[in-house]
Amino acid sequence: MTVEAKKKLNVPITKPALTEEEARAPFESIKSGWVTQGPKVAEFEKAVAAYVGAKHGIATTSCTTRLHLALATAGVGSGDEVIVPSFTFIASANAILYTGATVVFCEIDPRTFNADPGDIEKRITKRTKAIMPVDQIGLACDIDAVNDIARRHGLDVVEDAAPTIGGTYKGRRVGGNAHQTVFSFHPRKVITTGEGGMITTDDDAFADKARRLRAHAMSVSDLDRHKSERPIIEEYHELGFNYRMTDIQASIGLVQLRRLDELLRIRVAKAERYNTELADIKKVRTPFTPPYATHTYQSYCLDLDPAVDRDELMARLLRRGIATRRGVMASHLEKVYLDRVGRVSLPITEEKARTTMLIPLFATMTDEEQTYVIDALHEELAAA
Ligand SMILES: Cc1ncc(COP(=O)(O)O)c(C=O)c1O
Repeated sequence: MTVEAKKKLNVPITKPALTEEEARAPFESIKSGWVTQGPKVAEFEKAVAAYVGAKHGIATTSCTTRLHLALATAGVGSGDEVIVPSFTFIASANAILYTGATVVFCEIDPRTFNADPGDIEKRITKRTKAIMPVDQIGLACDIDAVNDIARRHGLDVVEDAAPTIGGTYKGRRVGGNAHQTVFSFHPRKVITTGEGGMITTDDDAFADKARRLRAHAMSVSDLDRHKSERPIIEEYHELGFNYRMTDIQASIGLVQLRRLDELLRIRVAKAERYNTELADIKKVRTPFTPPYATHTYQSYCLDLDPAVDRDELMARLLRRGIATRRGVMASHLEKVYLDRVGRVSLPITEEKARTTMLIPLFATMTDEEQTYVIDALHEELAAA
């Protein structure tokens, strides 16, 4: 029986794994009246830092503001260059532009889709200040190789690990392996706070500075002024931002973090089923995981044979009720970067931006839904 003759299902690309417990979690914060950055944010920061094995966690409103803050904390600004892969969500590069620095795009490894360390090194100039590798789609980049390049050239490293909380690199959790690591809690990620982000770092001075800059660079925090027995007049010595997370979000994040290992276990099992049952389709390459990493499968990304018309395949799957997304964008081809950086040649990035496609994967996806997606791919790609 063909898939089309079967009952049509509607399978979304993802669904956040939220339950009644998350729905109830903000109750205490709302009742207490302390709704923005306060005790729950502090608790969430400690819990994330402990989970990833870093000394400090600094929460913000999103991963994008987090990336901006990490670069600002590292002193990146006008006249500096920052190296970043083009094969990433545009927010990675945008955060560099916010500081006034110049974006220098680098090439990726075609198997891992993460920055190619050899190519990063070729792009270093006297103006390079930092490297921003990305842990794309939930797979840690080769951070030891990037750290080694940074050490030899005196550069800073901000690891954009937006999709990769819970992933590991050489047995260590992502989050404690770079000077600053940045996570996202957007609803497309493995765990969510609605919007939200977090820097983790072992550097005490950086953590202090990041905490100050995210709250208007106030010399004394709201919470400390509130607890003080004498009036404190705060001062402002630097340009800061309002990137504060709310206690409402952090309360949800604390529940999600407790469920993270279980959510990862479920995602990995579903991804392994795809790996096995899609392996015989010749026009598809399933995700590659190098021996040094474990994947969070924030998304499940197929790499299609270049002869397959990816956009047509996406349209055909959508007609069957199956949502897909293009894999990852080539940021350097977007007008905003063509105007600012000019035309850069990144052939691997351009090919993978054309051939990659995300298929549904989420913790509550049923076996029936997954079977439906697998059967549809077999049928469509047999014909493609
Ligand atoms: C690699 C990467 N960096 C940054 C971001 C931006 O995260 P946020 O939406 O939390 O700002 C994303 C979001 O998809 C991402 O995938």
